[in-house]
Amino acid sequence: MKLILDLDTGIDDAFALAYALASPEVELIAVTCTYGNVAVDDAVRNTRALLDLFGRPDVPVYAGPSPAGWEVAEVSAFIHGAHGLGEVSLPAPAGGSAGDAVDFLVAAVREHEDLVIVPTGPSTSIAAALEDEYFASHARLVMMGGALTVPGNVRPWAEANVWQDPEATDRVFRQAADVTMIGLDVTLRTLLTHSEVARWRAVGTRAGEVLAELAEYYIRAYETTAPHLGGCGLHDPLAVAVALDPSLVTCLSLPMQVDLAEETRGRTIGDLSRVAPQVKVAVGVDAEKFLGAFMERLTRLAANT
Ligand code: BDR
Ligand code: CA
Repeated sequence: MKLILDLDTGIDDAFALAYALASPEVELIAVTCTYGNVAVDDAVRNTRALLDLFGRPDVPVYAGPSPAGWEVAEVSAFIHGAHGLGEVSLPAPAGGSAGDAVDFLVAAVREHEDLVIVPTGPSTSIAAALEDEYFASHARLVMMGGALTVPGNVRPWAEANVWQDPEATDRVFRQAADVTMIGLDVTLRTLLTHSEVARWRAVGTRAGEVLAELAEYYIRAYETTAPHLGGCGLHDPLAVAVALDPSLVTCLSLPMQVDLAEETRGRTIGDLSRVAPQVKVAVGVDAEKFLGAFMERLTRLAANT
């Protein structure tokens, strides 16, 4: 299966990248970068640096659009660190962006039949690609974002990725033919704790140490923002895992919309006025199976790089 990740490369995006690289059934053809946890340039730099770390400098990285005047939100900098990767310092990568993310996404869907796109940041680039009708009717999207049956994480009703660009996610729900939504309904049931992290440190490689440092930073942030959870949410890697194995989740299919009015701006909710397209919204997850696959794959990657 061919895969493109659309990342706003913070800590759980880094885990999503690692999950894809650690999965032998996946050919990661490219990463496109968006803004969100960090600015686009930082997302490109972080992604390139991680690809170098994991021994995959061959994977191209493309840069997406960013709204004029956009700045990193305080909560994002707190959870992911000022540069997106906690306090981890990686050597500056040699390469930069290979080109425009939106053009690349549109062309890739025409070129590859067995392609899945996993967006794990704001929907801005994907919404821009939807202006191409072939993309809208053929792209298979497994996106991390939204919350249908649970509250939001940056507003009482809004999840972070959707909150950044509600109009864009609304367009994805209305125009894209094949969307699976992996929202807080399921990602906050798949948690990483200090005990798992110790396994990465025990591997004894630089990659193992980086994974452990990232996770510890992320868990510490969650201990402040959401202490009741007892760990950090594995949002973005769960979307990658579901792209590979849809049986990890149970879904409700319904037409979705994003509220754009001020009082509930960013809320992802069913739309009674339409019958299509139906978004597959994940509402149940086999957390044990996912966490097992996550730890097995990332630990193997850490040991081999
Ligand atoms: C989402 O927001 C970002 O902070 C994470 O990387 C994830 O994609 C969770 O709400
Ligand atoms: Ca993300």
